[in-house]
Amino acid sequence: MNKSAKDRLIFALDVDDFDQARHWVETLKDNVGVFKIGKQLFTRYGPDVVRMVVDRGADVFLDLKYHDIPNTVAKAAVEAARLGVRIFNVHALGGGEMMRTAAAEVESYCRTAHCQRPQMLAVTILTSSDQATLAEVGIDRPVAEMVVRLARLALDSGFDGVVASPREAAMIRSACGDGFAIVTPGVRPAFSAQDDQKRIMTPADAIAAGATALVIGRPISAAADPLDAADQILSEISTALSS
Ligand code: C5P
Repeated sequence: MNKSAKDRLIFALDVDDFDQARHWVETLKDNVGVFKIGKQLFTRYGPDVVRMVVDRGADVFLDLKYHDIPNTVAKAAVEAARLGVRIFNVHALGGGEMMRTAAAEVESYCRTAHCQRPQMLAVTILTSSDQATLAEVGIDRPVAEMVVRLARLALDSGFDGVVASPREAAMIRSACGDGFAIVTPGVRPAFSAQDDQKRIMTPADAIAAGATALVIGRPISAAADPLDAADQILSEISTALSS
């Protein structure tokens, strides 16, 4: 894990306008290694918005959370690799065969195309779900148990890591070992507002709990000086990594 602080800071491009997205990439690309493109921006602009980021020399986390039959997810994942994204994700609830098939087809595509294989992440249980949400769909196991179970399934299926709440990072780290990536949203530096995030941690605490990269949006985009906010977060990450 020799990634720099910059590679561990993922900015959530939560805007609905192409020009605004380009503005954020151009403003932040020296401080932020990866830009997260989600369903809204991708549904509106498609692969062009991914290319816009890649063309500016920055990396993309394509946050589309694929969940479908194994063949369909594998084909979509190969297209994500072809687009040159650095990270993509799926729902681990899609199962081991879905993840194994996607991992195998992406590996095979990247070997043939001589491209760097994207990092493959799984979402375990969405942090917006609680025990009642699980009960509604017939899952009666505790949320924490499901999170660890699905993280292990992702690991055993050839995936590189998970997206998880920083509060879940320590238990996932102990279940899945040191090489496993844990990407955490819900991170709030001391200087910023909590917004609608309920179970937050500071960047330093998230790294100390085992997070390998942080997804951060509004603490940067809503700051009076976004570059300064990104800098402060980077130095907090660097300090946490060296302690
Ligand atoms: O602005 P903020 O830092 O809260 O943005 C966090 C980003 O991470 C958003 O894109 C949000 O959708 C995403 N996310 C999250 N919590 C999750 C999963 C994803 O906040 N559990």
